[in-house]
Amino acid sequence: MSVLKGKNILIGVSSSIAIYKSLELISILKKRGCNIKVAMTKDAQKFISPLVFKALTNNEVYCDVMEEMELNDTNITHIALAKWADLFIVVPATANIIAKMANGLSDDTVSLLALAVESVKIVAPAMNSAMYLNKITQNNLEKLKRNDFKIVEPVNGNLACNTKGVGHIADENDIVDFMESCFYDKILKDKNIIVTAGATLEAIDPVRYITNRSSGKMGFALAKIARFMQADVSLISGHTNLKTPYGVKRIDIESADDMLNALKNLIISMKGKEIILIMAAAVGDFKPYEYINRKIKKKEDETNFILKLTKNKDLTYEINKFAKENDIDLTIIGFAAETNDLIINAKKKIIKKGLEFIVANDISRSDIGFNSNDNEVTIIDKSGKLEKLNKMNKEKLAFEILRRIA
Ligand code: CTP
Repeated sequence: MSVLKGKNILIGVSSSIAIYKSLELISILKKRGCNIKVAMTKDAQKFISPLVFKALTNNEVYCDVMEEMELNDTNITHIALAKWADLFIVVPATANIIAKMANGLSDDTVSLLALAVESVKIVAPAMNSAMYLNKITQNNLEKLKRNDFKIVEPVNGNLACNTKGVGHIADENDIVDFMESCFYDKILKDKNIIVTAGATLEAIDPVRYITNRSSGKMGFALAKIARFMQADVSLISGHTNLKTPYGVKRIDIESADDMLNALKNLIISMKGKEIILIMAAAVGDFKPYEYINRKIKKKEDETNFILKLTKNKDLTYEINKFAKENDIDLTIIGFAAETNDLIINAKKKIIKKGLEFIVANDISRSDIGFNSNDNEVTIIDKSGKLEKLNKMNKEKLAFEILRRIA
């Protein structure tokens, strides 16, 4: 369940070709269970009819609140709307609406609301690179930041003027992540967190490999929520199709050995800082004894093919040792995937791998764990204290794990 569920979201739409993003955003927000109302500038109405927003949101659309107010209306629409909003976002935000909001002008519905809203305020700029990089726009954005607005930075991409450059509006999923992050306490500010996630992949020959069933969802949820809580987050990811969470630095690897090298390089580069490592990756325990650098051919006279495997290193043990040898301040949190004797096995792993605490889950159940959106775990700390958590989705669980390291 998203933290946005049940929230009142007020969207200000201004006149950019990126206006279609506001439609995509609304469709995602509706799936998250938000109540949505839209306000438009006059020029935005030249791009898309307010009726489209009305049909999508099932709510009235506000185009000119002053004109729409009846002479003897006691309900001041823009103030009522501003009070209704848990979050106000201008998407897309043109240079013009940014300039107006930064300077307190209020001669259209969107800038009027920007002045009146007291809850969270976000701006998602979209414009040509020259206009975006112009010092006047940059100064206006800085001014907005100083006045409690948050900016979802635009990215490099195709622009309406048939060029490429910075000014392309942020991805709609990133905008939603950004919105969600506003409802989390920033309790991990100044913490440096590394998360490993997903399955490692061990090549047999140029076409074949062995891997495991991990989806990477738990590790990605941890990275995303840690970033929401304002940590500096690096994600070392194995085999997965998941999208990098907003604001998270990602390093992709294939094998367990690659993951260990990436971990070593990363913690060395962070030496001097307190680092928290969350080992959520499903590291393959074995790899082929030798890699064959051409495709292995079947033999006519053989029915069976025996593949000789050798053990992978225990990455957590190795990285703990490496950190000690290099005087690096590293705290490690591990996961334990077990099909039997969950607690006994998990406790052994705490000692062997030098963990602060372990998140133990029973992978024999198909409704939780691998590939599922939910998990039900027991957290065991290094003193042996057990805490059983109810079944919950992986983002909620990520929050539960992370608040224990805040
Ligand atoms: N892990 C690791 N290196 C490995 C295997 C696992 O660092 N070669 C990490 C995992 O990321 C996890 C923890 O160790 O945080 C426990 O992983 P798990 O698969 O439960 O245990 P294993 O150590 O592989 O032991 P076993 O498979 O025998 O249960």
